[in-house]
Amino acid sequence: MSTKTPPTTAGPTLTQEQIDDYRRDGFIHVSGVLNPQEVERYRTAARSAYDELDSLDPGNAMFRQIVQVWRTDPVLRELTLHPVLAGLATQLAGIDLRIWHDQLLIKRPHNATPTEFHTDAPYWPHAGARHQLSAWIALVDVPVERGCMSFIPGSQERQDLRAVDLTDRGDLFTAAPDLVWRPRITVPLRAGDCTFHNGHLAHTANANDTDEFRIAMVNIYTDRATTYTGRSHPCTDGLGLEVGATLPDEAFPPV
Ligand code: SIN
Ligand code: NI
Repeated sequence: MSTKTPPTTAGPTLTQEQIDDYRRDGFIHVSGVLNPQEVERYRTAARSAYDELDSLDPGNAMFRQIVQVWRTDPVLRELTLHPVLAGLATQLAGIDLRIWHDQLLIKRPHNATPTEFHTDAPYWPHAGARHQLSAWIALVDVPVERGCMSFIPGSQERQDLRAVDLTDRGDLFTAAPDLVWRPRITVPLRAGDCTFHNGHLAHTANANDTDEFRIAMVNIYTDRATTYTGRSHPCTDGLGLEVGATLPDEAFPPV
């Protein structure tokens, strides 16, 4: 018998106030995006992927980072392409989007390694993107002690920052000393909740200091009109893309 639970099509939609908050702060917390059956189904698939799929940097103590799971895992593909998440992301961005890539980010128990402050967009070989944002989806409860995210509200307005060293606590603040003095907001999540954050927003996630895995799935969306800069990246290398070409639909699905 099939145990398939299709993604819910009805789900939270955002109020104008939430959209305004996102556009001002660069992030929002949305509770209960996934129902408990979905959480269970995707968490089980994520645990299998942890054991079976290759990660980008196997020796990395920060997390196991498995990208583009939608290509190989039919269950997690549903989460990457989840219509509720795509709908919320589109409402926030206000433009048509495509998946740039997904990633499981799993911190093992007591990993003792935070993900230090950084912004995401400088790592991506993107030109002309009017908006890029990530849905960080908790597949287990993620209290502060398990490695939840903290954000510097409003920091998305700085779009000139370089890619920083994720293992260096001070590197972002060397690049942008003014950000040291900005308030930070820490957002613990219940399983099934997510945050959306702008690709230029400064954020961090602390270490997992609990006995359970921290299991998060991240769907990264970009402007559907984004073009390729030619810079090396694991998700574009080997695709033979021309510099200036729009990201192709078959590798970066429109949502
Ligand atoms: C993390 O979950 O450890 C970091 C996520 C992010 O940087 O977007
Ligand atoms: Ni990030």
